[in-house]
Amino acid sequence: MTYGEHEFNHVFDGSALLQKFTFGENGATFSSRFLKSYAYTTNLENEQIVVSEFGTTGKSLSRSKLGKLGDKLAFDKMFSDNAPVGVVVFGGEHYCTTEAPFLHKIDPETLETISKVDLHKELGINSQCPNPKMLSDGTSINVLHAVGATGPKYDIVAIPKKPVVGKASVFSKPKKIGSVDARWKLNPCHMHTFGLTENYVVLLEQPLTIDVKATVTNTIFDKPFIGGMEWMENKLVKIHLVNRETGKELKQKIKCEAFFFMHIINCFEQDNHVVIDVDTYKKPELLYAFYVKNLRRGSVLGSELDRGCVKRVVVPLDVPEKVAPETNLVRLAGSKATARKQKDGSLLLTPDTFTNCVYEVPTLHPQHASRKYRYFYGNSGDMTVNAGKVGKVDFDSREVKEWHEEEVYANVTCFVPRPGATAEDDGVLLVTAVHSTDRRKTSLVVLDAADMKEMGRVEFMTPSDVPKSLHGLFIPE
Ligand SMILES: [Fe+2]
Repeated sequence: MTYGEHEFNHVFDGSALLQKFTFGENGATFSSRFLKSYAYTTNLENEQIVVSEFGTTGKSLSRSKLGKLGDKLAFDKMFSDNAPVGVVVFGGEHYCTTEAPFLHKIDPETLETISKVDLHKELGINSQCPNPKMLSDGTSINVLHAVGATGPKYDIVAIPKKPVVGKASVFSKPKKIGSVDARWKLNPCHMHTFGLTENYVVLLEQPLTIDVKATVTNTIFDKPFIGGMEWMENKLVKIHLVNRETGKELKQKIKCEAFFFMHIINCFEQDNHVVIDVDTYKKPELLYAFYVKNLRRGSVLGSELDRGCVKRVVVPLDVPEKVAPETNLVRLAGSKATARKQKDGSLLLTPDTFTNCVYEVPTLHPQHASRKYRYFYGNSGDMTVNAGKVGKVDFDSREVKEWHEEEVYANVTCFVPRPGATAEDDGVLLVTAVHSTDRRKTSLVVLDAADMKEMGRVEFMTPSDVPKSLHGLFIPE
């Protein structure tokens, strides 16, 4: 994507484009509209990339060095408000999200941008999880990253279905469920998702961190945000279980063998264990592989990249005071996961591996979120054969059913259950598809989630190239 002569360097950088497929009695329609963020409108106005993104440095417009520095250190100028991650619901309203502390309220009918929320100004936070969890009563739970008296922390908050009377917005003074101090004082962990079980909020502190000092230095010296990310070599994943009712963290120290992740698939409790399913990679190589120049190398990249795998981490809640270090405390039938008590009293976990590649941007039956479940659906991490396979992972049989089509880059958006269905996979999988044969063509393919066979599709030709979608949202009428 370009503004004037300037092109973004990284896949995560492109300006957010809302895409919408609508189905009604009169057929289907497709519409799309750019999110009117400050970054988008400023770049457009200046016909060049002015606002820095994850992997691209914006060209500074200020002439005075002092003015330039002051401008850069203003929080809303340090971080872009481009919000391409997805559309989520807070307080019955629809918002575009990103990791930076900004949200944009949009009209889901017209895709127009209505207003911007600056959570740094409103709540003093530095970043947020862009994937909140919505409870059945309409309350949204999210994790906000802030700095407290002892350093960086993760605040778990509940945002009500409707603004409380007398409060300015749904985000005003959200109810705090609990708070966890970051394990490294100058390096809060990167946390794109978190987990939720019946009784716990699950936070995974992975070895991929944001080096605060480097981030500030990079901002001053015109270097992109990606340069401030630091992988803590030889460090484990630290697991926090925070009680949803009391807000207290489980005292048991829990660590798991190292992995990099973006998406926790689902979490649930079973027989006094907490089960955490995650799309994992050995290291965060893909963040660097997703530079546009690398992607243009095509299939070479696919064979070089770590495809990752789906792992199931199991935390036993019943940990005896005295137990032999070789005893595996995981007691779930059929599980290959282990949990062993270390000399220092901590638990060291090794996960059970289910697949030989990840299935990203995962989706599942909404009523099985935070509950025991069997299936989820996602985009295959295997990019060697066909860039755009989608798959259905079966945790019981350990099998994967895939769907793909030549020259199609498919993206799983949502699983929608059939009304009245009782089987977990009785429903449809909505898959958006872009076509390498014609970049102006876009499709929405409906798969039968039971057998992953195509039931039908709608195709549209648009006036311009259509980019691949990210997280999707199904809005029933
Ligand atoms: Fe994501």
